[in-house]
Amino acid sequence: MDKQKKVLILPGDGIGPEVCQEAKRVLIHINETHNLGIKLEEAAVGGRAYEDFGKPLPDETLEAARKSDAILLGAVGGPSWDNLDYHLRPERALLGLRAELELFANLRPAILSKFLADSSSLKTERVQDLNLLIIRELTGGIYFGEPRGRSDNNENAFNTMIYSKSEIERIGRVAFEAAQKRNQTLCSVDKANVLEVSVLWREVIEDISKDYPEVKLSHMLVDNAAMQLVRDPKQFDVMVTGNLFGDILSDIAAMLTGSIGMLPSASLNSDNQGMYEPVHGSAPDIAGQGLANPIATILSVAMMLKYSFNENEASLAIERSIEEVLSEGYRTHDLEGDADKKLSTSQMGNKILEKLD
Ligand code: IPM
Ligand code: MG
Repeated sequence: MDKQKKVLILPGDGIGPEVCQEAKRVLIHINETHNLGIKLEEAAVGGRAYEDFGKPLPDETLEAARKSDAILLGAVGGPSWDNLDYHLRPERALLGLRAELELFANLRPAILSKFLADSSSLKTERVQDLNLLIIRELTGGIYFGEPRGRSDNNENAFNTMIYSKSEIERIGRVAFEAAQKRNQTLCSVDKANVLEVSVLWREVIEDISKDYPEVKLSHMLVDNAAMQLVRDPKQFDVMVTGNLFGDILSDIAAMLTGSIGMLPSASLNSDNQGMYEPVHGSAPDIAGQGLANPIATILSVAMMLKYSFNENEASLAIERSIEEVLSEGYRTHDLEGDADKKLSTSQMGNKILEKLD
């Protein structure tokens, strides 16, 4: 057994705790059966952390995050905290963790299970076997650019979309390397017909493409990319884009796979330390009712084992168990299917655990 690996669980708000609970059970199980040497810890984040500690990202939580090898995050946010000052809002915790740990590379795979083609918002033939990877820059761009704020008279508000060559280069290399391991094609998405920052983006991506001659590179404007994703998503394999465009495109891609409740994500820094989270949010409207789909969070654990710990076999075992459960027709409430095979959050967790045995 290697040296002990530390995983920090941050359940957060809304359905976060419910889905994390199931993912935690899976992680504990696979940790034992595969002898992974993982030690679990838990800490507060988001709205609940604000209630208990007065801020959404308490110092203790950030400290624990820094010391961990990987983080599993549920979700943050909810209506009770919507009117808080900007710097106290639950979302600041997420953005703070991304920035503090320099988790610049956000991997959002959109994979359609062959058992869920009916659940997609597109016709089956358009999405069958869909397997695309959106790589979103996560610590720069308009989300973090300065200056930002309001004018003194409060009549104007402004943000700055800014990228340096080095920021573009490092996310670009992650994308080219991912493309090398997949279908050797990469589509870079920008708005170079309007924005200087996108012109620079395109130049840098072109420049580094020389180091990856086997990867076929294309560029697409973001409005067209949004349209192409719902017209013919299978034309894409790996897409790379900036922070804001990636936020939007990844939600579109999520819906193609039937439910946003199915999509995991990984946010990595250059040491492969990672934060893993479902793409869906805190869904306060269904929180606490056992209606949430835990699969995105359990798949996030699978991504963690693969990307942070190189435990490919354990990771595949989780993916296989989920496919098996889906193949038998079991569904959570967000997915179309037979009424008598609808499972609650914890029942879905149980089924997946059964298959892991
Ligand atoms: C996401 C979310 C976040 C983002 C919010 C909650 C700050 O939408 O991870 O996609 O915009 O990055
Ligand atoms: Mg988003």
